[in-house]
Amino acid sequence: MPTYCIYVYFTWSLNLLKNLFIETIGCQMNTRDSEIMLQLLEQNGYSLSADLASADAVIVNTCSIRGKAEQKAYSFIGSLRRQKEENPDLIIAVAGCVAQQEGEKMRVRMPHVDIILGPQSIYQLPDLFLQVAAARKGIISTSQSTDFTIPSFLPDLKHGLPHKRFVTIMQGCNNYCTYCIVPYTRGREVSRRRSDILAEVQHLVASGVREITLLGQNVNSYGNDQPREERTSFPDLLRQVAAVSGLVRLRFTTSNPKDLSPALMTCFQDLAILCHHFHLPVQSGSNAVLAKMNRHYTVEQYLAQVDGLRQACPDISLTTDIIVGFPGETAADFQATMDLMEKVRYDSAFSFKYSSRPPAKSCDFEDTVSDEEKAQRLAIFQNRQKEITEERHQEMVGQSLEVMIEGISKMGQGQWSGRSSHNLIVNFHSPATYSPGDLERVTITESCFNSLRAELTQKENVKND
Ligand code: SAH
Ligand code: SF4
Ligand code: F3S
Repeated sequence: MPTYCIYVYFTWSLNLLKNLFIETIGCQMNTRDSEIMLQLLEQNGYSLSADLASADAVIVNTCSIRGKAEQKAYSFIGSLRRQKEENPDLIIAVAGCVAQQEGEKMRVRMPHVDIILGPQSIYQLPDLFLQVAAARKGIISTSQSTDFTIPSFLPDLKHGLPHKRFVTIMQGCNNYCTYCIVPYTRGREVSRRRSDILAEVQHLVASGVREITLLGQNVNSYGNDQPREERTSFPDLLRQVAAVSGLVRLRFTTSNPKDLSPALMTCFQDLAILCHHFHLPVQSGSNAVLAKMNRHYTVEQYLAQVDGLRQACPDISLTTDIIVGFPGETAADFQATMDLMEKVRYDSAFSFKYSSRPPAKSCDFEDTVSDEEKAQRLAIFQNRQKEITEERHQEMVGQSLEVMIEGISKMGQGQWSGRSSHNLIVNFHSPATYSPGDLERVTITESCFNSLRAELTQKENVKND
């Protein structure tokens, strides 16, 4: 083809591509769902754009875990009203947990939205786009089925860091912790077929991915919804994924402590590629509060699990989630959370003020803690956790460990940034050139709050982590 024709062909084909802007709020499940929606729309004539003003379509993937997240979603969706008035051809789709929860109510409140779709409907998005274009009226697709099967889907690697990916292994949650909206927004637990998960991991690894994080709201219940003859437990799934040749690091999130089995702890001894990090949300250090939260474990059982994990993997990094100000939480209950945190010494923690989320059961409990008191407890918890995080990082100075390179650090040329097996950011100087996913051994020289500073480990000093 002559150069002129190639130019015309390219200009023509580029003109055909429509701009898609995606706003994602919420957890890793939403991040992964946004990636899937992007890939599906890219196969249907859209191209990702960072410019909202010139978008032909906008997806807002929403989270409703706390009141603030829902407000954030509504305020972003509301801000699109004027753009829709100026450009009636703009397609606005709202996905995720607020969409699932609100459905018709959202349509009434935000009539400029074209598509409202729940997490089970993301695979139908191209179809929903076609329907909207043809019918020019709003569509709601939020049905939830217990027979839902997560379709086989082979991801591409067009966006994001090339060496690491999330793989969803299950959707939904059956636990009904009394404060939590997830069982209502994501529905009953549905495990993905083991063969599909392995096929996706093999495909990703063959495409150059070196690190996989398996995702689910409670990965330890993986397989519980499958027929007994076909059932694979989560530890068995981990072993099978870890056996995929070429995979270098394996992670998972997240786990309810009530389902953490000895078989999973053993995986930390047996699987060399399983990263030394466990996110184990405790929520509270008071047995009375844990019972009211419907968490099905006690502080004593939780501490025994922490011991078990540290025996299986002495340098394991433990992180958690905490809620302060749950209805009925007394000053003594809160102190019990502080005591637990001193015992465990988490590497880091996510902490939140309790937020009432209808129809979650705790909305019927009397909210006895004032907002001021919640804010005070949160600040006390966060300040102490910050100190412990700094102390934990300080303890790492002098240690030699392996980092997986992510790229050049913000510090510029010759400065590299990577992550340790514990998932900590490690920055170091090196004259070498790396690609994302390469491994390098470094010695920690300095601790900063959100990251560690390191230098290349001298080869004669190389020891195991
Ligand atoms: N499936 C995960 C939790 C996902 S939600 C698990 O069971 O560990 C992430 C965190 O949000 C929870 O661990 C909890 O700490 C917090 N959270 C959930 N509902 C909340 C609410 N109503 N108010 C405040 N924080 C909440
Ligand atoms: Fe929510 Fe509890 Fe399920 Fe986690 S385990 S998603 S906190 S109901
Ligand atoms: Fe939020 Fe839904 Fe995830 S409520 S935390 S986006 S499962």
